[in-house]
Amino acid sequence: MNASKFDIDKIDHRLSSLYSTHLDKKAKYNQWADSYDSDLVNDLDYVAHLTSSKAFSAIVTDKKSRVLDVACGTGLVGIELQKLGYQHIDGTDFSSEMIRVSRDKDVYGNLFQHDFTTPLNQPFQYDALICVGLFAFSVPPITNMIYVINAVKPGGICIITVNSAAWRELNLESAVNAQAQEHNFTIQSITQADYIRGEGIDCRILVIRSDQQPE
Ligand SMILES: C[S@@+](CC[C@H](N)C(=O)[O-])C[C@H]1O[C@@H](n2cnc3c(N)ncnc32)[C@H](O)[C@@H]1O
Repeated sequence: MNASKFDIDKIDHRLSSLYSTHLDKKAKYNQWADSYDSDLVNDLDYVAHLTSSKAFSAIVTDKKSRVLDVACGTGLVGIELQKLGYQHIDGTDFSSEMIRVSRDKDVYGNLFQHDFTTPLNQPFQYDALICVGLFAFSVPPITNMIYVINAVKPGGICIITVNSAAWRELNLESAVNAQAQEHNFTIQSITQADYIRGEGIDCRILVIRSDQQPE
C-alpha cells in the first residue's frame, strides 16, 4: 500500500467493519470464526501469519521456548510456529468461537480466553510471544500493548504485528515510543512486511524486549 490516505470505503467489507470503533468486535469475530480462514487466506491473500512467524523464528531461536500466541484467532500463526519447530505454544483470544476453531488445529498446549483491554491475571509466564492482527484502527488501543508485553518474563521477546494503514493514520510509532518510555520495554526493530496482499495492505513487525520486572 502506498503512503496515500487510507480509504476505508475501498477495502473489502469483511475488513472495513473491523476497523470501525463502534463495532462489537467480539461478536464480529465470534460470527466470523468458521469462515475466517477461507475468507482471509483464500480470498484476500492474508500472509501476516507467514511473515510474522518467519520474523519470530529469526529472533527466537530456542525451539523449546515457552511461547504465547496472543490473539491467536483460528490458529494460523500457531500452525506456522509448529511447522518451524516450536514445541511449547499456548494461545489466547477474547473470542470463544475463534478459540473453538483454533482448538481443532491441535497446535496449542493451553488455550485460554482473555480480553487484552485488561491486564493478565498471571503475567510474566512466557519466554516469548507473537501477536498478529490485534492492534489496528480500533480497540484495543496501542496503550493496551503493555498488557500483551507483560505476558513475557523480564528479557522476553515480543513480536507484534500492526496494520500499516493504522500505523500511519494514527501515528502509532510515536505512541509506541511513548509507551516504551513509560513501561520499560525496548523496541529493538520495526520492519515492513506483507499483510493482506489482496487488499494491498502491509504491516509493521515490531521486535520488543520487555524489561519489566514483576512487582
Ligand atoms: C485479525 S485477527 C488475527 C488472528 C490471528 N492472529 C491471525 O493472524 O490469523 C484478530 C484477533 O484478535 C482477537 N481480538 C480482538 N480484540 C481482542 C481483545 N481485546 N483481546 C483479545 N483478543 C482480541 C480477535 O478475536 C481475533 O481472533
